[in-house]
Amino acid sequence: MLRPSVLDAGVAQTKRTVWIAIALVFAVLWIALTLLVRGASARLSRQNEAFQVRSRDLLDSSRRLEESLLETVETLNAAVEARDPYTAGHSQRVRRVSLAIGRELGLSPKQLGILGTAALFHDVGKIGIPDSILTKAGPLEPAEAAVMREHVTRSAEIVAKVSSFHDAVPAIGHHHERWDGLGYPEGLAGDDIPLEAAIIGLADAWDAMTTNRPYAVALTLNEALMQIRTGRGKQFNPAVVDAFSDVAKRRPAEILPPETPSASVAVV
Ligand SMILES: [Fe+2]
Repeated sequence: MLRPSVLDAGVAQTKRTVWIAIALVFAVLWIALTLLVRGASARLSRQNEAFQVRSRDLLDSSRRLEESLLETVETLNAAVEARDPYTAGHSQRVRRVSLAIGRELGLSPKQLGILGTAALFHDVGKIGIPDSILTKAGPLEPAEAAVMREHVTRSAEIVAKVSSFHDAVPAIGHHHERWDGLGYPEGLAGDDIPLEAAIIGLADAWDAMTTNRPYAVALTLNEALMQIRTGRGKQFNPAVVDAFSDVAKRRPAEILPPETPSASVAVV
């Protein structure tokens, strides 16, 4: 029979062996886990770097695409004006007058930016209108006028291709609406017409009245001013007409065709 002291020593020895084995297993597990985590984190950081390079490339190519779309819209706009000598410089003049009205109405810098872009490209859709209609000397037949009216939707569709111009699309798509609801393409009336569209509509009409066209000789500046005032609350937004009249009174150079002496408009 074993003595209790020998038995205790055996049990203690076994316990030690078990604890050492447990410690060893834990140490091996810990080392394995550390190696695993390090490997995974190295792989993750490599993947992250590759992802960043790829997203930079994507950003670069989307920026290049945006720039070339913008250049395309500018080229189309220049082509529209080049096809019709009567409207050369039209979009720049409409932009200038629109911005003068926008400033008078106290639009924010962001709204003025949208207004300027929309005014510059409001007629770009005329690129799709045949020359026989676009440059016709004389009134359009009803079917021709219907084709001509499509330029509004075409302009909006072309400009919508440039994502940084999205905010300008409503102003372009509604620049031929009228305050009394008799305009196109949707027959919107009153304040349902975006303010920027109403401003461009007036500036567009002003430019058409004050420059020679194949179908009409330019009105004198005072005749044109009277026509704009007559259209107040009919064709034009009253607040836009008032702002335009205020600019005509106080800073006429901002709305007159370039190189026109300010004295040639006697505002009453
Ligand atoms: Fe137009």
